Amino acid sequence: MTEIHTPRLLLRRWHEGDVPFLAEINADPRAMRWVGDGSVIDADTTAEEIERWEEEWDEEGFGLFAVELLGSGELIGFTGLSVAEFFPDVVPDVAIGWRLGPQFWGQGYASEAAHATLEFALQDRGIDRVVAVIRAGDKASENVARKLGMAPERETDHPAYGVPLTVHAIDLTEYQA
Ligand SMILES: CC(C)(COP(=O)(O)OP(=O)(O)OC[C@H]1O[C@@H](n2cnc3c(N)ncnc32)[C@H](O)[C@@H]1OP(=O)(O)O)[C@@H](O)C(=O)NCCC(=O)NCCS
Repeated sequence: MTEIHTPRLLLRRWHEGDVPFLAEINADPRAMRWVGDGSVIDADTTAEEIERWEEEWDEEGFGLFAVELLGSGELIGFTGLSVAEFFPDVVPDVAIGWRLGPQFWGQGYASEAAHATLEFALQDRGIDRVVAVIRAGDKASENVARKLGMAPERETDHPAYGVPLTVHAIDLTEYQA
């Protein structure tokens, strides 16, 4: 069982009971504004997403973590690693991603979870390069990437939706936790 504790958070694998909580986040247009084409995601698709992420954990040895608040045990969203199959431009690089419920924004949780994810990538999985694919205009994600020490590397377009994206990257061999 892969679990990481940070000062305020538990990063863990998914279980079925997470579906309604992630579905609530996925149904919120504020949370989905910069994801894909900006559409919200329904509960059935959320359940399929979680199933797919768990398969990725089993196959790759890494994946997207469910992020829980220590203490209350609330699921606040996810942070983690994936191979962005939908985006051949960056494969085989491993991509870091994040999505939290809006009520949890602005408290440093994404940065805290993402730092722990990069440490996990390097120390537990020997991954030495991680990218983040961020839509133009998504200032919050740009700031999280900057705080992680990721640098903008190149601009491209989303293969399916045509929207402009910037690929940020970090060489983890130079990563300072
Ligand atoms: C991106 C996201 C995960 C950031 O979560 P968060 O917990 O608020 O981030 P943090 O509190 O760790 O903030 C990191 C930095 O970004 C800044 N920031 C946060 N929200 C911001 C916003 N809306 N605009 C500009 N900067 C923002 C913070 O001020 C902080 O920088 P600082 O420490 O220099 O002040 C969150 O906004 C989110 O879930 N968005 C919706 C999902 C999404 O768009 N995911 C990315 C799709 S690729």
